[in-house]
Amino acid sequence: MSALPGFVTAALGAKLQNVSRSDLRTRAQRISDSYRGRGTSGVIRSELDALAYAIVRMPATYAAVRAALAQASEVIPDAAPRSLLDIGAGPGTATWAARDAWPSLTRATLVDENPHLLALAEAMQAPALELSAQHGTITASLAGGATADVVMASYVLAELPDAALRATLGRLWDTAAFLLVVVEPGTPDGFKRILACRDILIARGAQIVAPCSHDGRCPLADGPRWCHFSARVPRSRDHLLVKDANVPFEDEKFSYLVAGKGFPPLDRGRRILATPKVDKSAVTLTVCTPDVPEQRRVARGDKDAYRAAKRLDWGDAI
Ligand SMILES: C[S@@+](CC[C@H](N)C(=O)[O-])C[C@H]1O[C@@H](n2cnc3c(N)ncnc32)[C@H](O)[C@@H]1O
Repeated sequence: MSALPGFVTAALGAKLQNVSRSDLRTRAQRISDSYRGRGTSGVIRSELDALAYAIVRMPATYAAVRAALAQASEVIPDAAPRSLLDIGAGPGTATWAARDAWPSLTRATLVDENPHLLALAEAMQAPALELSAQHGTITASLAGGATADVVMASYVLAELPDAALRATLGRLWDTAAFLLVVVEPGTPDGFKRILACRDILIARGAQIVAPCSHDGRCPLADGPRWCHFSARVPRSRDHLLVKDANVPFEDEKFSYLVAGKGFPPLDRGRRILATPKVDKSAVTLTVCTPDVPEQRRVARGDKDAYRAAKRLDWGDAI
């Protein structure tokens, strides 16, 4: 379980002083109703709306991005990026996750058109990270031609018109010196966008770092299943209060793509696409292979392999 870093919870804690939790709960409910109705974060119109959004959504998006970067880091363990551009950064969630994954980061530029979310990000100054917050649109921020080692688009593509995806992604790819990270909700719709990004980026010569095990046809491109993963998120007392929940954790489902350039050939292993099935006779793993997911059965009789397979989880690569 990845919990928000201390400097984030401290900043949120300071903002929460003397704020009515029931008022925040009403605001969080309105924001989440808007998202459920396919609205955008345009519904966040004040400092308190931004705080309500951060309390309810930051733990989950942080855990999702952190889990995606953990999977990618297993493929590129020596990556040590120094600069990051976070587009549609909101309260900086994905930047904080990237900083945790890559302590080498020294500079981050956060772009967002929502001044309330951006102000919240600025209140969360991470130690040893030079932060530049740019209020404006993604298109305007990419016009200058500057590059960053990592470009991050976390839970933002859904807010752009579908027709803009190809052009925006192309500009994000041109802006990324080494890595482009895209994270989306782990829904069929989120996966559809990830798949579109994968096709566009492979055509541009990208090296897919994660989660894909190959550059062939995605085995989940058609059919009832979609490629997504799950991150367990601990819920704080305020999270429980504002979300009106009583279970002390939630499971955030996410889809993602990490694309790279300039890396030597990558050893990506075979990604496990679902919770392994364990019964008395075997562990059965569903792994990523071109066209159709492969079922790998590890029989109990093969003691060492069976013991190792029992420790594997959805999202691991073998
Ligand atoms: C769902 S939030 C995600 C925030 C953050 N990336 C995260 O992962 O928690 C989407 C963010 O994208 C921003 N956004 C959407 N369209 C934008 C655009 N065209 N230009 C700049 N920011 C945009 C919104 O203001 C909002 O802060």
